[in-house]
Amino acid sequence: MTADEQAAARAGVEEDAGDARERMRQEVAEGLSRPQKEIAPKHFYDTRGSELFEEITRLDEYYPTRTERALLETWSGPWVEGLRPAALVELGAGSARKSRIILEAMRRHGSGRLYVPVDVAEAFLEDTAVQLRGEYPGFAIVPAATDFTASLALPLTPPEPTWYALLGSTVGNLDTGSAVGLLTRVARRLRPTDRFLLGADLRPGPNKSVARLEAAYNDARGVTAAFNLNVLRVLNRELGSDFDLDSFRHHAFYDASRGRIEMHLVSQRPQLVRIPGERAIAFREGETVRTEISCKYDQATLESILSAAGLATTRWKEDPEGLFALVMTRRHP
Ligand code: SAH
Ligand code: AVI
Repeated sequence: MTADEQAAARAGVEEDAGDARERMRQEVAEGLSRPQKEIAPKHFYDTRGSELFEEITRLDEYYPTRTERALLETWSGPWVEGLRPAALVELGAGSARKSRIILEAMRRHGSGRLYVPVDVAEAFLEDTAVQLRGEYPGFAIVPAATDFTASLALPLTPPEPTWYALLGSTVGNLDTGSAVGLLTRVARRLRPTDRFLLGADLRPGPNKSVARLEAAYNDARGVTAAFNLNVLRVLNRELGSDFDLDSFRHHAFYDASRGRIEMHLVSQRPQLVRIPGERAIAFREGETVRTEISCKYDQATLESILSAAGLATTRWKEDPEGLFALVMTRRHP
């Protein structure tokens, strides 16, 4: 662990709920004061938001989860057999549904018995850990409730070799600079036999029209809209703000020039929103707050990000339709 990470870990332990809320208030107020108002996507994930995301993963339109699951079903076995990870450390683990495919392979091949799910959604993470302990009695399940954009401090030093993983294309929710920053911190942790497994959603191509991509973020049942609006509910609860959920509308579109989906909430009328302790925030009719970016990659773009972070690709596997990629990497020798 670097000195910075140790300090951040200590700060994480020592920071009480009041400090955390104060930091959140400052971050949110700063984001809402930009010319393009922004709220960081990590705020989606209270328990309701985590459950809504789970519902998204089961939608017909949302192809990434089932595509990545199929890739994991094909490749986890051979990769675990060859590399024999002693532990899996997963950033943004959520419900760990797909992670079970890797844990199954580790159990089958007798390679390791430690799983460290890392997630900012503390209560949901704890539920995931309780379920996994029931399903995998031979594994030590050691959850870490951490914001991975702030710190990668872990409650223990995992044995070698460890696989670190960031699945679901969660990397795409970071801009390029932040993605390189996070992956650099992952790379610095990697010992020679450790690996980093990344799931990445790909750019439009022969089997992925822009319409298909946009439908994944505009599902017919409105689950993604509810997920998007939930962030305002989180802010109202945590910060005492007075966002009126009925006066914002979900909007998601693909920006081809930047290769990313953007999710926004559009103000339906001119309005003032108050966050106690902050100046009132004015919204014009039609003005938006960006709540998420979801970057899509081609191999060259992703490998340049990985390389900037000090990571080298050892395996690149796509599904037959070229929708999604599973990328195994190691630290640059
Ligand atoms: N890996 C799962 C879940 C993806 S949803 C899958 O592939 O289906 C993104 C997950 O990352 C959520 O569980 C969310 O709580 C978590 N997350 C988002 N931002 C985070 C952050 N800054 N630090 C830690 N976890 C974060
Ligand atoms: C977690 N993350 C990778 C999802 C995505 O596709 O960007 C979150 C999501 N947003 C809307 N639908 C799903």
